[in-house]
Amino acid sequence: MGHTLAYFSALVAILSLTGVCEVWSSSPYHGKFISDFTTLAHGVTGTVYAVDDHRIRIVGFNYDGAAPDAFFWGGTTDEPGSSGEVIPDEFGRTATKLGTYINRSITITLPDGKTINNYRWVSVWCRDFTVDFGHIYIPNNFDAPLEYDAGPFREYAHGLKGHVYITDSRTFRIENLHYDGNGPDAYFWVGTGSSPHRRGSKVPDENGSTRKLSGYNGDTISITMTSEMTVFDIDWLSMWCVAAVQNFGHVDIPDKSELNIPPYIDDSSDTSYDNCEVLNDNFHVSWTLEGSYIQIQLSGRVDRGEYLAFGLSGSDVGTVMIGSDVTVAWTDENNDAFAVDYSLTAYGQCSVGYGACPDAEADGVDDVYDSFAVITDGITRIGFTRQLDTGDSVDNAIPSDGEVYISWAIGLINPNGLAAKHHTVPSGNVKLNFGRVNSDNCPSFPDTTLKPVTPWEEVCLDGDEDNTVFRVRIGQAGGRRGYTAITGLVSWGIAWYINETLIPVLRLKRGVNYTFIIEGGDDPMQSASYHPFYITDDPVGGYVQKSQEEREQVKVYAGVEFENGNPSPTAAGRYCEYKTTGVDQSEESETFEDYFKTLKLDCEEGAPGELLWTPDENTPDTVYYQCYTHQYLGWKITFNDAAGIYLTSASHNIVLSILILICIWIV
Ligand SMILES: *[C@@H]1O[C@H](CO)[C@@H](O)[C@H](O)[C@H]1NC(C)=O
Ligand SMILES: *[C@@H]1O[C@H](CO)[C@@H](O)[C@H](O)[C@H]1NC(C)=O
Ligand SMILES: *[C@@H]1O[C@H](CO)[C@@H](O)[C@H](O)[C@H]1NC(C)=O
Ligand SMILES: *[C@@H]1O[C@H](CO)[C@@H](O)[C@H](O)[C@H]1NC(C)=O
Repeated sequence: MGHTLAYFSALVAILSLTGVCEVWSSSPYHGKFISDFTTLAHGVTGTVYAVDDHRIRIVGFNYDGAAPDAFFWGGTTDEPGSSGEVIPDEFGRTATKLGTYINRSITITLPDGKTINNYRWVSVWCRDFTVDFGHIYIPNNFDAPLEYDAGPFREYAHGLKGHVYITDSRTFRIENLHYDGNGPDAYFWVGTGSSPHRRGSKVPDENGSTRKLSGYNGDTISITMTSEMTVFDIDWLSMWCVAAVQNFGHVDIPDKSELNIPPYIDDSSDTSYDNCEVLNDNFHVSWTLEGSYIQIQLSGRVDRGEYLAFGLSGSDVGTVMIGSDVTVAWTDENNDAFAVDYSLTAYGQCSVGYGACPDAEADGVDDVYDSFAVITDGITRIGFTRQLDTGDSVDNAIPSDGEVYISWAIGLINPNGLAAKHHTVPSGNVKLNFGRVNSDNCPSFPDTTLKPVTPWEEVCLDGDEDNTVFRVRIGQAGGRRGYTAITGLVSWGIAWYINETLIPVLRLKRGVNYTFIIEGGDDPMQSASYHPFYITDDPVGGYVQKSQEEREQVKVYAGVEFENGNPSPTAAGRYCEYKTTGVDQSEESETFEDYFKTLKLDCEEGAPGELLWTPDENTPDTVYYQCYTHQYLGWKITFNDAAGIYLTSASHNIVLSILILICIWIV
């Protein structure tokens, strides 16, 4: 008897342990189970959960889509029947018949503020033929999930106060949050065990960032745990200082079996689109028209920091970049989505409202919203919504019928969050009919990763008493092997060429008079080809784009005059560019010399500009030649005469050998 009891309790313990693992960790939490669909016709199956009192989630939903007039249909009669009403589909539509669903998970919201208990059943119902294809019954007095009041933070340090609610399985709302912001290294922090400790995990702040927290003063915020972690996996939420290993305060997560909370719904993974079209092997566009709105998803095999841009062409008769109205979409290091409404008014990065500019900086407003990102298997998918006709003067209306020319591009986002020059664009004209009969023409992405390329070697150009002249022009930045590989910075696609070399390091001597002959464009009206030259200690350049504050942090050594504190460039001349003939050959060119042979010099009429500069003992050991109007065009100037320090001949030789090793001499 005693034995049996002990055995029995051990078994219960094991069962409940395995039970805990399975229920709380392994299987995803979808909400409170309601029922499985009974299958009557057209392959309707699926499991139905309550998300909260007005939303239901159907997991693993199947329906063959073949019936002429089927809807989600709910009613209060004893059995499913024609006295019911349409329940909107996952897009909120009530007038569109259900399409095909294959093992999909969708969330649908009950209409008119109704709650689950307002219905007796939900069916997949064919209205024309009054036929029930499958249904569920709602249990009486169904207890729908609800946010959970986890109580106030315990207050240990730095004035932490706040009341915590668990709003869904991954999200907390903290009301009336106070924190003095003085902890050196504080984060929202979750973990297991009876009290907070260092082996926890960060929870991103209300903006999705995992930077250290600054202060709060009575704010109400929502924070969501990352990845697949849910409140069922943790025992506490605290504010924790990592550097000081200190708990500023926490709340306990209650007994998990008491939690009847909504599941976290990742809206993005639910959404599927009516249409998809391949733009190129690495870029697909999907869309769904919703009345006067369009939901768009851009999917691509891109790196973080690369953007996908898509929109209407600037021309009615072809794909033309200038005049295009596009959305530029990318993700940041937190995988947060950005989808920004752009107008492309000129070939060039955005400078003072001209070029590839966000609408908000070009007399318009950002009309793109509801953006989200999902990144799986190296494919980034960014969804967003806009009105077909935004009414904004800098936007073009997307027609809901008929073909229209579109523009698209892939490129890099600058550190300042603006789009840099594209590296991939369509090779000809591309048309789409947004209002076409729905069709998904996208295969899965090919599993090709860009093969690595060898960067070109950095070149040094020496200037001394006998070599005092440099000829400065604009040329191609050399793709992955050129500017970006040399500088480690994002390129705008063009860069300075000096004496026919892509961004050489100039090694100069102090006290020598140098002459730079400048051919980078001198017409300020042509903003994309107006590149005055200047010398600064700023590795980025683009002086005109800087705020007063930013200007104070850099020095200008030559090429800019100041009148009453207002800068103007002094070194501009006619425009000369080393242009690509045909398709850019940087990927195929093993050396810069090979690449240079594929370029063709094209100069406009006019005279070159000239900049005379004598570096002196006040010039630092490294400065940069840059473009006054655009960032990321130039590179370094160094001095090997080390600011008046005389080298012994031995150390001079060592320095020389090192320099020979790292540079290719051009004579
Ligand atoms: C349905 O989808 C789920 C989740 O995406 C997956 O785990 C499951 O294997 C799928 N079932 C079938 C029958 O394809
Ligand atoms: C989040 O963003 C808002 C609005 O930009 C800002 O006021 C707030 O300080 C940010 N919070 C944190 C923790 O950075
Ligand atoms: C650069 O090219 C110019 C002619 O275009 C030439 O006079 C000058 O010597 C060259 N400078 C150097 C440092 O090679
Ligand atoms: C450099 O130019 C200045 C002013 O034009 C002149 O006085 C000086 O002699 C020149 N130096 C050399 C080394 O030519």
